[in-house]
Amino acid sequence: MSKTNLIVFGTRPEAIKMAPLVQKFLKNKNFETKVCVTAQHREMLDQVLDFFEITPDFDLDLMRPNQNLYSLTATIIENMKSVLEEVNPDYVYVHGDTTTSMAVGIAAFYSGAKICHVEAGLRTFDRQYPFPEEFNRQLTGKIADYHFSPTELSKKNLLVENTKEENILVTGNTVIDALLYGIEKVNAKNFKDEEIENLKLLLNFQKKIILVTGHRRENHGDGLINICAALKTIAQNNPEVDIIYPVHLNPNVKGPVNELLSGIENIHLVAPLAYPAFIWLMEKSYLIITDSGGIQEEAPSLGKPVLVTRTTTERPEAVEEGTVILVGIDSNRIIEETDKLLNNIEYYNGMSMLHNPYGDGKATERIIKFIEAL
Ligand code: UD1
Ligand code: UDP
Repeated sequence: MSKTNLIVFGTRPEAIKMAPLVQKFLKNKNFETKVCVTAQHREMLDQVLDFFEITPDFDLDLMRPNQNLYSLTATIIENMKSVLEEVNPDYVYVHGDTTTSMAVGIAAFYSGAKICHVEAGLRTFDRQYPFPEEFNRQLTGKIADYHFSPTELSKKNLLVENTKEENILVTGNTVIDALLYGIEKVNAKNFKDEEIENLKLLLNFQKKIILVTGHRRENHGDGLINICAALKTIAQNNPEVDIIYPVHLNPNVKGPVNELLSGIENIHLVAPLAYPAFIWLMEKSYLIITDSGGIQEEAPSLGKPVLVTRTTTERPEAVEEGTVILVGIDSNRIIEETDKLLNNIEYYNGMSMLHNPYGDGKATERIIKFIEAL
């Protein structure tokens, strides 16, 4: 008898990282696979579903403008009840560390399904950083039956918490599976994309392109103000550089960034890019400045140095390999490190290694084999 899977996600990065699993499970005859989106994100999620050609079986459509964690958590748990009752899954798959992951994990536990945690075991061991993600993943780790860790280090973190070793599998990160699919599709001769055409008109690719993103809750307020101040100085001191910043739709990001950085000639503020245009642009960039988790994991595959505007990390692997530097949220440090990368080519080359500690593109296969063997 075939087993039933329910794969649930809600935000842009979860969708990107779960898409390869959805695609492969839907082709696997040993399982009946259903997809549910909480739609904790809306536009940013829909762009990903389009690109990976995924049509969810259930769309809870929960996003509200400037939503808060209390009501988001409560409505996810409440709305998952009927989905879980209708599907009656053997396995529920959640990803990473968002409110969707944590709340769906709780609901799935109530339903009695086995819970599979993809991207398990990332830790800073400081519940406040990143907020609320570290708490979300610790809790999801507690709830999960099976843990798919991207690296040996993330497995070790789970062992420290007394997770049973036989329930952990090191798989690599599915973000690389998605990236390889994405790059191949974007580079295909017949692939046409309006956003990419617009970027070609907007940016001067003779210049060095600095790609910026930022959205972490703990950087809202002063952190974001410092980062914007640094970007302004970098743009003014380096007219030979074009900075492009696809601004996250969270009003706590969009408001201040537009206020602080509009009207500067070589800073281009644009709406979040759909995944194909974003990975195309990453490939064309000289340097990336970000607080994003997923981008830190993707960049080493494209040989791009990353300055991470955070003070702690649950992804130390690329920092140790030297392709990522934690610069924190101090304006001067961000400016200094950017200057070094712009002006010291040996230093730049040392950081732009084409090696990725986060995966080899086969994470999804390993997850499916593990579940098949249960
Ligand atoms: C969420 C996750 C964070 C993840 C990030 C990825 C939580 C608590 N936070 O943060 O872990 O790294 O997504 O981007 O789970 N909005 C839109 N359209 C969209 C998406 C967001 O308008 O498509 C706006 C809405 O006003 C929404 C707000 O952004 O209420 C915040 O969205 P939310 O998912 O709560 O937080 P993020 O900051 O996006
Ligand atoms: N991304 C995208 N468009 C953008 C910015 C990012 O498609 O304008 C992709 C990026 O390639 C990565 C993911 O979104 O796969 C990262 O999402 P985000 O930074 O929102 O979340 P995090 O990874 O920090 O949780």
